[in-house]
Amino acid sequence: MTTVLTTEPVPFDLPREAPQQVCENLNQWLTDLIGLSLRLKQAHWNLRGPRFKSVHEQLDEILADVRKASDDVAERIVTIGGAADGRPRQVAEHSSLGSFPPGQLGVDQAVEQCCSDLAATIRRGRACQAALAGLDAVSEGLAIDVLAALEKHHWLLRSQADRT
Ligand SMILES: [Fe+2]
Repeated sequence: MTTVLTTEPVPFDLPREAPQQVCENLNQWLTDLIGLSLRLKQAHWNLRGPRFKSVHEQLDEILADVRKASDDVAERIVTIGGAADGRPRQVAEHSSLGSFPPGQLGVDQAVEQCCSDLAATIRRGRACQAALAGLDAVSEGLAIDVLAALEKHHWLLRSQADRT
């Protein structure tokens, strides 16, 4: 996916190629963050079975942080002169998340699915963070902050999995 840059000059001392590369990496990650937020709500709604209430509420807690993360990433793109691209088709075509099962989900199935989706978003976020290193420390710092929150949520949700 190609990021559109605005015509306004960026009022910071970023390396010449940095805005384009930073924005492209962040826009790629944005598709996963938006896709993840849709999946968390899908699981939140269709959950069935034991531990319903705690997992139902936990999924919304994760969602709040994922939505905040997608907003922060999108606004960082615009801040450094790019256009954020959260269009539904971009999310469908560029998100690294796979298919999501339709209909009702058992609690264990939902936990496994959402852990897998969180892990995929984290993997891509870590690749994004590595690409940002040396290009723009502030964008990299944002990526690190978002990753710390997502990784903690992954641990908290993984701890709900019934692996006995
Ligand atoms: Fe709800």
